[in-house]
Amino acid sequence: MTTTVIDHIGLLITNDSALGEGPLGQRRNASVVIEDDRVVSVGDAGQIADKRIDAEGACVLPGFVDSHTHLVFAGDRSEEFTARMSGQPYDGGGIRVTTEATRSTSTAELDRLVRLRLAEAHRAGTTTIEIKSGYGLNVEDEARSLDIARRHTSETTFLGAHLVPSEYVGNEDDYVDLVCGDMLAASAPYAKWIDAFCESGAFDAEQSRAVLEAGAAVGLTGRLHGNQLGPGPGVQLAVECGCASVDHCTYLTDADINALADSNTVATFLPAADFSTKQPYADARRVLDAGVTVALASNCNPGSSYTTSISFCIAIAVRDMGMTIDEAIQAVTLGGAAALRRDDIGRLTPGSAGHAVILDAPSHHHLAYRPGVPLIRDTIGPLGH
Ligand code: NIG
Repeated sequence: MTTTVIDHIGLLITNDSALGEGPLGQRRNASVVIEDDRVVSVGDAGQIADKRIDAEGACVLPGFVDSHTHLVFAGDRSEEFTARMSGQPYDGGGIRVTTEATRSTSTAELDRLVRLRLAEAHRAGTTTIEIKSGYGLNVEDEARSLDIARRHTSETTFLGAHLVPSEYVGNEDDYVDLVCGDMLAASAPYAKWIDAFCESGAFDAEQSRAVLEAGAAVGLTGRLHGNQLGPGPGVQLAVECGCASVDHCTYLTDADINALADSNTVATFLPAADFSTKQPYADARRVLDAGVTVALASNCNPGSSYTTSISFCIAIAVRDMGMTIDEAIQAVTLGGAAALRRDDIGRLTPGSAGHAVILDAPSHHHLAYRPGVPLIRDTIGPLGH
């Protein structure tokens, strides 16, 4: 057993009000003792251990939980992004471009690309990550994408219902049958979650419900893409189906917010997608004020959000979505954990995972105050299962 102490922490965020001040459980001049991969104690500075990491007075917080990514893909869509910056709208149609590139890339190369993206996310402070399929869109390539994702994380999501692939345009219901039948059967062994893109131009409420119900029948819990490009049925459907999370939530009605408030479905905001697609930012304040549990995630994908930076998401949430810095920090730690229905991550408390971020800054406020600056000095704990 190896004991590691992170010592001389100027400001520690534990996310447990029993361990420190306020909802973030903040402690000054603190240390965290980790045995193997678990926190065993949180205390004052000056602990003894086999291995000592000197935080030199910096701020330490729980590792980020990125609960929404699409990391298994090949190809490049920078031209689509550039066209958007000149006024082209985003409609999700580029998913087919990435599908073509992904299908024609070898498994070894896809795995290499995933590893590079994971290394980038880890350097940026992420210690738990969810990865979706969704750029295979046939039986073999969806299962292959999830097999690759599963090598790196237990938080894998089957997203065969990302978009109807070119060969099924005009036969959408046949494609939904395939997703709910052979594709699900081949993918389920590698997946924990099931998801659908419930949006006009992708899958309607009835089709999305069929996918979520087929997943539930084989033990996969739902999560849903909803209300990204306009108001729609996604949020209500996610709540009705008991999804762990409904993601995007850019356009919410009062009824959507009330439904979320009465549920245990997390509202996950993906502000880097709104940045890259020039959508308005979600009004997180309204949602938080209604008592909804909120997460923030990167949505790393080649089309709508090619970033692994949770710090970037925090900065947008604080600048443009009405979140306080403390709420944004909670959303990328505890919120992400709730979206994955986990209580062992997103906090630094005895028994939790020993996943931490050491900042090159005296407080977590700097994550919004110094946007674009690489403030993650060290990420403690692997990014993986
Ligand atoms: O979450 N909205 C659907 N899926 C992704 C985008 C995928 C793409 O454009 O390649 C998202 O934004």
